[in-house]
Amino acid sequence: MLVTRAIFPVAGLGTRFLPATKAQPKEMLPVVDKPLIQYAVEEAYAAGVRQMIFVTGRHKRPIEDHFDMTFELEVALEQAGKEELLKVVRSVKPDDMECIYVRQAQALGLGHAVLCGQRLVGDNPFAVLLADDLMVGEPPVMQQMVEQFEEWRVSILAVQEVPAEQTRRYGIVAGTPINERLLDVTGIVEKPAPEDAPSRLGVAGRYILTPGVFHEIATQQRGVGGEIQLTDGIAALLRREKVFAYRYEGKRFDCGSKEGFLEANVALALEHPQLGPGFRAYLKSLDI
Ligand code: G1P
Repeated sequence: MLVTRAIFPVAGLGTRFLPATKAQPKEMLPVVDKPLIQYAVEEAYAAGVRQMIFVTGRHKRPIEDHFDMTFELEVALEQAGKEELLKVVRSVKPDDMECIYVRQAQALGLGHAVLCGQRLVGDNPFAVLLADDLMVGEPPVMQQMVEQFEEWRVSILAVQEVPAEQTRRYGIVAGTPINERLLDVTGIVEKPAPEDAPSRLGVAGRYILTPGVFHEIATQQRGVGGEIQLTDGIAALLRREKVFAYRYEGKRFDCGSKEGFLEANVALALEHPQLGPGFRAYLKSLDI
């Protein structure tokens, strides 16, 4: 297994979700019954990642608590004979999963956040997962990407077609097709205006990167929004290494926006083994 480490940048302020995120990390907002960050961690784990590196900031303690043992809760559930709930609680952090926290003291951008994980990643390929993007796929999207990485041994960016008027929200790639899902990336631009976008293929929040990207990020000037951008680091990496874009199989919910977050809740509630049938009946009963 080659990709065993993942970086989760979770230091962002979550201003788009105020007031919900005034005193709670946006990554802890629940979609149905699980916090957003747990979906991303489970996706990484399913892909074989065992070392979870959280790049956190102030006010993000609940994330650390969530992936820690909750001794009193476990004892209480055990004594009450609530085996099922105990299993749910314990499954949040399997024994062979390691969680490591590094602080991003200043919010200088996604590239800077990734750079904060450099010493922990060392000279190894690594995944980056943005918890805002909730990905539903079978096999899970990160696993699809790991399979591509194992075959090609180059950095892999998850991409999807986005509407022309939304290019300003994404890193946009240009590339030469290798097969129906893969492109050899020739350029990448952060949040271009539609008229400047090299294509309509937007990067979703899933990356597998080679360690060479750290040096490139470290030597970047501040980019869009005055931030050190991961996209700019990847653009620089392209001069030295191949980077592929992968059209993943699955669906992405942009849980960084209220609309996407609501859609994710509805879609996942409908799929939920216990809640699904009742929730579907409820939605059908609505006169809308
Ligand atoms: C970040 C990246 C962008 C990518 C997006 C995916 O932007 O900078 O390239 O397309 O995530 O969600 P953000 O959404 O953090 O502004």
